[in-house]
Amino acid sequence: MNIAIIGAGYVGLVSGVCLAQIGHHVICVDNDAKKIKNLQKLDIPIFEPGLAELVRTNIKKKRLSFSTSIKEAAKKSLVIFIAVGTPSKEDGEADLTYVENVAREIAQTMDSYRLIVEKSTVPAATGKRIERTVRLNLPKKNNKIIEFDVASNPEFLREGSAISDFMHPDRVVIGVESKRAEEILKDIYKPLKTTIVVTDINSAEMIKHASNSFLAMKISFINAVAQICDRVGADVLKVAEGMGYDKRIGRAFLNAGIGYGGSCFPKDVDAFVRLSEKNGYEFALLKEVRSINEFQKQSFVKLIEDKLWILKDKVIGVFGLAFKPETDDMRNAASIDIIKILQAQGAKIKAYDPVAMDKSKDILKGVQLCKDAYAAARGSDCLLLITEWEEFKKLNFKKIKNSMKHAMIFDGRNMYDKKAMETLGFEYFGVGRGHGHY
Ligand code: UDX
Ligand code: UDX
Repeated sequence: MNIAIIGAGYVGLVSGVCLAQIGHHVICVDNDAKKIKNLQKLDIPIFEPGLAELVRTNIKKKRLSFSTSIKEAAKKSLVIFIAVGTPSKEDGEADLTYVENVAREIAQTMDSYRLIVEKSTVPAATGKRIERTVRLNLPKKNNKIIEFDVASNPEFLREGSAISDFMHPDRVVIGVESKRAEEILKDIYKPLKTTIVVTDINSAEMIKHASNSFLAMKISFINAVAQICDRVGADVLKVAEGMGYDKRIGRAFLNAGIGYGGSCFPKDVDAFVRLSEKNGYEFALLKEVRSINEFQKQSFVKLIEDKLWILKDKVIGVFGLAFKPETDDMRNAASIDIIKILQAQGAKIKAYDPVAMDKSKDILKGVQLCKDAYAAARGSDCLLLITEWEEFKKLNFKKIKNSMKHAMIFDGRNMYDKKAMETLGFEYFGVGRGHGHY
């Protein structure tokens, strides 16, 4: 099938490339000319495992191309996915300016049936707005009626494992208002051989709101439990394990730590709270999810202050900057808030991340970016583990200990074995591991 993807960001690019990989002909469009030029030269703007290889393969097989022209792509494609950004406004509401602009532009280029699919995360009822916008902007030629459908097809891709999430999804959700749209979307996803949930557009949009907010709630729940664990001397890792065997609960997304970040959970929780408010319901539970998430960062810093006492001129080594491992994405990364609070108190920060250093440069001012983890640890008063990259598990901690001023580690993701670290001579502090509260 001929498909256009408008917006070649984290979601649009991965979706476009994967749709090409399962046999479709895909044009990825972006209004960032530099990005498109780079993509055409196989210079991939984001770090996502497996992505570069798939781009290369599918360009070679002539199933994938890049363009800055919505017009060109929409002319050649039966299905047009909208995957442009939907940033938060001041009050948390999703800003749909880009979605509206793109919908208008698509409509102006249409001369025969098209299926327009929203992929970006949008508030419920946006599908109806897109439909109206398209209808209002269709070209008026010889009183010919141009047919079209709008559909919703939310994404559930996690950065760092986005390709595998796309290829092996738990389900594909499609929100449609016509049999024609349903058949086209089912055809597109047929090669994935997965469960397809077919519903109306509003419900599909709600599935996305509810899923992401539920996952954020799961994380905040275990983080609140971690707070109590520290107060009563219990170990949150064991608590999560014990809870996780219950099939009704499940172990996934019960990792306590310094909270969730990224481009989705913070923004999507805000947008769901705002959407509820606008519709006359106060989603107090989700507001609390947000507060607990903020508190995790603050209590982590308090723990550091308690152990280091005066932070002025103390040297703090930081392992990991990205909002999660296997990505270079720094959007809403916990590292930003934590480092800023420590710097405000005069601490000197040395940091290392396997891939996010480049993107960190402009975001983290006054941080000494080091060539590897050993350099970040050298001469420091303590270490912080912020992002649980696999390579941080395999470090030679004897060497690290000998190079530090004090062998002290604050494990913001509970990645290390407490006993093993203590045996090596480190003072170890995790999150919710029963060491008192701050
Ligand atoms: C996407 C979704 O849009 C968002 O709603 C969802 O919650 C997360 O995933 P993401 O792919 O992470 O966002 O955003 P980003 O990497 O910023 O990509 C958006 C792309 O759209 C950018 O490359 C931007 O240049 C492009 N864009 C934006 C356009 O091509 N046209 C526009 O008018 C606006
Ligand atoms: C999320 C959704 O999982 C995905 O379905 C999609 O819709 C986009 O948003 P993403 O933000 O890429 O994906 O990564 P995810 O793995 O969900 O992690 C989000 C944040 O939560 C990270 O900061 C991570 O460190 C944190 N997290 C995750 C926890 O703190 N504890 C956990 O148990 C799981």
